[in-house]
Amino acid sequence: MSLLDTKNLSPRLLSFITALVIAIANAIMSMFINNKWQTPLVVFGITFIVIYSVYHYTLQKFIYRKIKLIYKFIYQTKATKREEYFYENILPQKSIDEVNNDVKEWAAQKKNEIEILKANEQFRKEFLMNLAHELRTPIFSVQGYVDTLLGGALQDPEVNIKFLTNASKGIDRLVRLVDDLDEISKLESGKIPLIQETFAIQDLIKDVYEELSLNAKAKEINLSIKKGTERPILVNADKPKIKQVIVNLVENAVKYGNEQGAVIAGCYEVDDKHVYIEISDDGPGIAEEHLSRIFERFYRADRSRARAIGGTGLGLAIVKHIIEAHGQTVNVRSKPGVGSSFGFTLDKGTA
Ligand SMILES: Nc1ncnc2c1ncn2[C@@H]1O[C@H](COP(=O)(O)OP(=O)(O)OP(=O)(O)O)[C@@H](O)[C@H]1O
Ligand SMILES: [Mg+2]
Repeated sequence: MSLLDTKNLSPRLLSFITALVIAIANAIMSMFINNKWQTPLVVFGITFIVIYSVYHYTLQKFIYRKIKLIYKFIYQTKATKREEYFYENILPQKSIDEVNNDVKEWAAQKKNEIEILKANEQFRKEFLMNLAHELRTPIFSVQGYVDTLLGGALQDPEVNIKFLTNASKGIDRLVRLVDDLDEISKLESGKIPLIQETFAIQDLIKDVYEELSLNAKAKEINLSIKKGTERPILVNADKPKIKQVIVNLVENAVKYGNEQGAVIAGCYEVDDKHVYIEISDDGPGIAEEHLSRIFERFYRADRSRARAIGGTGLGLAIVKHIIEAHGQTVNVRSKPGVGSSFGFTLDKGTA
């Protein structure tokens, strides 16, 4: 490092250089006034000492005061005894560069905090907007049917039962929406603890297939477990919650799948600790631009179609929450026209 490296000029070095320059100048001038050989030496010595001391002292005080202000501001807390000691003794030795870095670090941290706040705010706004929208549709539908019935349709045997049934469907949809929201908010607040147990994942999948067999039959969709992965694999997880995950995934596969399609569940041991479960369909698939957002609340790939089929876009958000609450991951692979696969990991169980 050269003497005049201005980047790391400490108060001490700065004072030294200034004192040296002035002392030399003074010494040279003194030679013209008095040509005794001691004079320049004495002048040099005195000037150097005086300038160095005064300059160093003032500079130190000045810089230290400024820096202390900066640190007071960025640390926000009142100084403890230890920090006072730090301010008095360690701070003055920090080079301006180090202080600069501290400030930069602090600024980056603040920027990050602000960005997170902004994202949360945006998320909250979107959530409320979506929620209002989702509630409005079934409420208007129920309101419409009830108004029509009260307006005279009640006496019309041609339509009265049909309108009541439709109103009832709207109410069912509302109930389901509220249940899903309740589930999601509970999962998010982390209020419901996971109750882990050991079970064979294939048995659970078969239970779900049984429960959804009517839906599948209506579209002539075949539900099966992938050949070669039928041998029971034990997992350690919260069984009712994992059941909900599988219900949501199989329900989607059936709901969005093609008539006479196939839904296949594969179960694989990844390593000594993890099991990977994948629910695949040969349905319409999901376009790439939607894949990264598919697990968000209320997100639907094909809004008009999904609305006609009757989804609210909460199913996959619940899936993600449950799997992440287990400390595991969920992923999706899909290609339009080919099909979709939703996979997740679970801890392997021991018998
Ligand atoms: N197997 C699949 N094949 C094609 N698209 C799918 C599949 N699974 C999900 N999707 C798309 O992802 C969107 C989000 O799914 P999600 O389960 O979260 O909501 P939903 O099924 O619309 O409503 P909900 O499950 O709350 O009744 C769906 O609207 C659909 O567009
Ligand atoms: Mg769904």
